Amino acid sequence: MTSTVHTLPAHDLMTFFMGEAAQRATHNLSPSFGEPLSVAELLDYEPGAAEALTALSLDYTGVDGGVALRSDISGRMPDIDADDIVVTGGADEAIALLLTALVEVGSRVVVQSPAYLPLRSVAAWRGAQISDLPCREEAGWAIDLDQFDALCQRGCRVAILNIPHNPTGYIPTPAEIDAILEILDRTGGWLIVDEVYAGIPPGEDAWTPFASRHPRCITLNGLSKSYGLPGLRIGWIASKDREAIGLVKRLRQHFNSFTPAPSQFLAEIALKHTAAIHRRNWEIAAQSHAALTQFLDTHKDRFSWTPPAGGVNAFVRWHGAGGTRDLSDRLLAEARLLLAPSAFFGAGDDHVRIGFGKRDLADGLSRLSDWLAAGS
Ligand SMILES: Cc1ncc(COP(=O)(O)O)c(C=O)c1O
Repeated sequence: MTSTVHTLPAHDLMTFFMGEAAQRATHNLSPSFGEPLSVAELLDYEPGAAEALTALSLDYTGVDGGVALRSDISGRMPDIDADDIVVTGGADEAIALLLTALVEVGSRVVVQSPAYLPLRSVAAWRGAQISDLPCREEAGWAIDLDQFDALCQRGCRVAILNIPHNPTGYIPTPAEIDAILEILDRTGGWLIVDEVYAGIPPGEDAWTPFASRHPRCITLNGLSKSYGLPGLRIGWIASKDREAIGLVKRLRQHFNSFTPAPSQFLAEIALKHTAAIHRRNWEIAAQSHAALTQFLDTHKDRFSWTPPAGGVNAFVRWHGAGGTRDLSDRLLAEARLLLAPSAFFGAGDDHVRIGFGKRDLADGLSRLSDWLAAGS
């Protein structure tokens, strides 16, 4: 009997951040999330919440997320109801559930590239025939709509986009979004859009989730990135498509249907105070973004970039000697700095991802400047 288990590749980015060597690093130059809040900071947004948390029952919660939490999520999405939502253990579980439920052996799946690895690897592990949709730096990392159209024509079951994009920060224009939806209309299949970076920069009232735009779109989102709450492990899947949501719910019953009650309680506070939390996180990110801009201006001989339109990631080209995998290894060994190379996103060996969501980026960049000045 053949086994698909071993076809799931190592999650290099995860290993890089969580591995033993990484624990010795003094600075992470590539975090992909906003500055995390403490429990106390989050509770402070809601009078009486600290007392309510201590009184919270640790009974089973509602299946696929409690109704209150699902209503809070759907309330932020035009034309989406609580029944259209499945709450998951972070966005990663949403990716795993969706691709396990919707992809079958031989399914044609189109994936935007570069990619956050699980968006591609889980589909490949399920036995999909993957068609990569390469996005190029010369085009500002834009989606090539003609190529997307051509790939979707050929009986594509699922197309997967990530908007705002990790690692490039690319966001399509409204006209490009219309074109993507028109292609979906003509070609059938499902469109999964990973929207975990929506909300940074704020002003996201202008952001219409894809699930609200088209009945065959599936939005995947969560509280880890723009809310700065990765430790809550709250993600969700949203869609009007009964078949897709039904398949996910059925799969979920066999693994774990429930959301931790304390996380759910805290998530409801975060959603209620979305605007203030996004503002807080953007104030921090804007400062780190300014430090990054200054750093890149100073080191034009070594780095160049297309500034990201959204999210907290920048995909920066390295013009120094050697590839970025080697650069990353040397930085960790010689300067105790973590810098994620483009290989982790299936995108060659010329770029690095720099994350500007957190406060300590300026310190880390100053150490990187020292290392460069030392002639490394
Ligand atoms: C595009 C994208 N999707 C999903 C995730 C996973 O997020 P979570 O921590 O909520 O599982 C990440 C994390 O880096 C990501 O960048």
